[in-house]
Amino acid sequence: MSLSCSGLSVTYGARKALTNFNLAVAPGEVRALIGPNGSGKSTALQALAGLIRPDEGRADIDGAPIAVMSRRDIARRLAFLPQQPSAPDEMTVGQLVRQGRFAHVGLFRSYRPEDEAAIAWALESTGLSDFAERGLNELSGGERQRAWISAALAQEAQTLLLDEPTSFLDIGYQIEVLDLVHRLSRDRGVSIVMAIHDLNQAMSICDRISLLNHGMLAFDGEPRDLAATGLIEEVFRVKGQFVQIAPHAPPHFDVELARWTSPPS
Ligand SMILES: Nc1ncnc2c1ncn2[C@@H]1O[C@H](COP(=O)(O)OP(=O)(O)OP(=O)(O)O)[C@@H](O)[C@H]1O
Ligand SMILES: [Mg+2]
Repeated sequence: MSLSCSGLSVTYGARKALTNFNLAVAPGEVRALIGPNGSGKSTALQALAGLIRPDEGRADIDGAPIAVMSRRDIARRLAFLPQQPSAPDEMTVGQLVRQGRFAHVGLFRSYRPEDEAAIAWALESTGLSDFAERGLNELSGGERQRAWISAALAQEAQTLLLDEPTSFLDIGYQIEVLDLVHRLSRDRGVSIVMAIHDLNQAMSICDRISLLNHGMLAFDGEPRDLAATGLIEEVFRVKGQFVQIAPHAPPHFDVELARWTSPPS
């Protein structure tokens, strides 16, 4: 396993955000983390990235406990894209993406050709090659999100944790980012855990799905098996059904919008 955790529990003050969370991600696996707002997805990703210390349980990367690794050691193995990342206003796209290489380069050493190549690849993969000189505060929401994805890519880590990487993107860039995720896993064996709200995108791109509800794991398995459980309607409190659009396509959840326009009963 490239990334795993067992029995992870996290509390914020008196609020329990994650209870006994388990995950095992194989090399090259794409894992979607789904669940309602506040169900613990970001908390789980932050604990997996070693950014918050769990009350109980442990997280491991490449078989070693994350809790005892330095930030630089973690960054060589794992790149994390937070849900709401922040950087100094005056920073440019190019500077942000270069910073993604810090684990490889160090503070005072110069960038080698392979570092420059990784930066150029990261910018190109997110459609930002012409944006390197632009300030982050001069970008649209979607462009800024792509800049952060680019910084995570520049790290060239074998494990990628992405917290809602497509939330601000237009449909074209959503598909581009999902396609990039697919190619990274298939061609480079990168393991990816991605919190995502679009259920059908999650069903079609991932190998396995973890469903969180009130900080607890409600499902861990393949998309097809999730469709058979009835959990989506229960957990998200919606009506709908899974339909098979094409013989080999993943099941597609067809949500009934009527619920939202009818008066509360
Ligand atoms: N820093 C914090 N301090 C206190 N409570 C927090 C903090 N961060 C999150 N929480 C709470 O912990 C719970 C889980 O939050 P989390 O951000 O992990 O949810 P999420 O599944 O990522 O939701 P979303 O889909 O809205 O991003 C929520 O009840 C939230 O209010
Ligand atoms: Mg979140």
